[in-house]
Amino acid sequence: MKGAARPAARHALAGWLAAATFCAGITALAAPSLLPRTATAQTATVQNDAATLYVQNCASCHGPQGQGTSAGPTLVGVGAAAADFYLRTGRMPLGAPGQQPIRQAPKFDEADIQALVAYVAAFGAGPDVPQVTSGGDVHRGFALYNANCAACHAATGAGNAVGGGFFAVGLGRATDQQIAEAMIVGPGVMPRFSMTAADQDALIAYIGFLRTAPTPGGAPIGGIGPVAEGFVAVVIGLSALVLVAVFVGRRQRDEQQAERGPQEPA
Ligand code: HEC
Ligand code: HEC
Repeated sequence: MKGAARPAARHALAGWLAAATFCAGITALAAPSLLPRTATAQTATVQNDAATLYVQNCASCHGPQGQGTSAGPTLVGVGAAAADFYLRTGRMPLGAPGQQPIRQAPKFDEADIQALVAYVAAFGAGPDVPQVTSGGDVHRGFALYNANCAACHAATGAGNAVGGGFFAVGLGRATDQQIAEAMIVGPGVMPRFSMTAADQDALIAYIGFLRTAPTPGGAPIGGIGPVAEGFVAVVIGLSALVLVAVFVGRRQRDEQQAERGPQEPA
């Protein structure tokens, strides 16, 4: 049986090889005429890509020239910094007008983000993507953070509700680059900050430190802030007080019983 199967398999293999050689031959013949055309087609796509991406994903709200519509603000002059921030933090494109932008996984890949950022930046002169240098002064950053950011993002960087249904997100996920961009852009109700490069890097260094910092105030309880802390205080604190009261009460009763002497069994 095996001996009969082998030559058959060999024949099939030979058939496949012949077919493959034939295909390769055809491709080789066709290649010289195909190659230059594909190359030109590709350059054309790269140039068109950004425009197409923009028209398909952004123009309905921001207008074909970025002039803005009733569903979205103008992008003229927001610069590469804003486009880079909103696209990399997944806040844009917004799903529907009237929605609140939230941080989520970016919708586009690296190449598309770069293309869109350049396209938006070309609407009008605006702030460029900022440069960040690591190794900023953490102590200076601590002072700057507490003076400028802690009121909204909490002393731990865990984030906080800032009223009006807005939430100053936790700073655990933003990259150094995105922190610098947020300060330039002022997303949502966050104000804009114009800081020297040294102060910007100091803040970034301190926020980086916050992420790895031990929590000297005890367990961070998810770092969710005063509401959670109050809840834990009530649940654990109050139960502890009740236990102490019960314990004291029982001891007193035991002592009174001891003074009266052993009781006769009823
Ligand atoms: C459904 C409507 C909608 C779509 C689609 C949309 N945006 Fe927006 N965009 C908005 C709104 C509304 C805001 C204002 C958000 C805010 O201030 O909280 C905004 C803000 C922005 C900003 C910040 C502007 C500023 O003044 O700082 C940028 C940059 C931006 N969008 C880029 C884009 C890009 C790029 C796309 C396409 C990939 C896009 N948006 C798609 C509605 C939209
Ligand atoms: C008035 C309150 C307020 C102050 C002050 C403030 N922020 Fe914000 N910040 C916000 C809000 C609200 C958002 C979310 C905006 C949104 O999602 O559209 C935000 C978003 C951010 C983000 C984006 C985080 C992410 O993961 O996408 C960064 C980074 C940031 N802030 C850094 C800072 C720094 C650094 C300072 C101090 C220099 C600061 N903020 C001061 C309210 C504030």
